Amino acid sequence: TPCRPDWPYPTLIAHRGAGHHAPENTLAAMRMGAAQGFMMMEYDAKLSRDGVALLLHDDALDRTTNVSGNAADKTWAELAAVDAGSWHSAQYAGEPIPSLHAIAAFTRANHIHSNIEIKPHTGLDAETGKQIARLARNLWAGATLPPLLSSFSETALQAALDEAPELPRALLISKEVPTDWAKRLQRLECQGLNLNDQYTTRALVEEIRNAGYTVAVWTVNNRARAQELLDWGCNAIFTDEVQTILPADFV
Ligand code: G3P
Ligand code: MG
Repeated sequence: TPCRPDWPYPTLIAHRGAGHHAPENTLAAMRMGAAQGFMMMEYDAKLSRDGVALLLHDDALDRTTNVSGNAADKTWAELAAVDAGSWHSAQYAGEPIPSLHAIAAFTRANHIHSNIEIKPHTGLDAETGKQIARLARNLWAGATLPPLLSSFSETALQAALDEAPELPRALLISKEVPTDWAKRLQRLECQGLNLNDQYTTRALVEEIRNAGYTVAVWTVNNRARAQELLDWGCNAIFTDEVQTILPADFV
């Protein structure tokens, strides 16, 4: 078994900034996660039409903002004016879509580690992987720990590897883990897999961990399940439940 670095990051990761208690992928969500003691956050990053990296889960703006259409078809100037908070609740009205620049400044100032999920607009995988890796390298220069880059898109991860090989990478798997997972991790020089909880078994975790790779599991909103996964040897879990699944309870 090759020797690989273990997981240097926190065990609990706030999902999409701070899950569902604040509008996902916003600074408001990250402030809430930080206030609850989370020292690591996962968020979804993609590119505007003019190549600015920003936080948004879907291709389209419709679900989480007050406008419709795809982020990839709008300039950053247009996107920066969007309301990404009102859809969630009135108290977050006017909360903007953050740029990756703004998130780097916030997380670094607050000593919070990052998992940047590269979430390319459909078909823009290579360009998005390359640009986000380039930005991650520059924006986190000199950080205690570099951001962990992850993606469901192997094309995006390959582009990230080509652009910034020194940044750690993890491959996201949406459903069943393919039997050739180790080959994929080797090809993409990934440290491990970020798995869907619904497809995560003890045998699978042990197989991956025994091969020297990391396992992080999303999205775990049940405390007993979180403990079980960690007991199996998972390195970390992602949660939306930042009010009840607290880092202080998992030390
Ligand atoms: O990175 C873990 C998780 O966020 C992947 O799924 O759809 O919530 O981005 P999704
Ligand atoms: Mg995500």
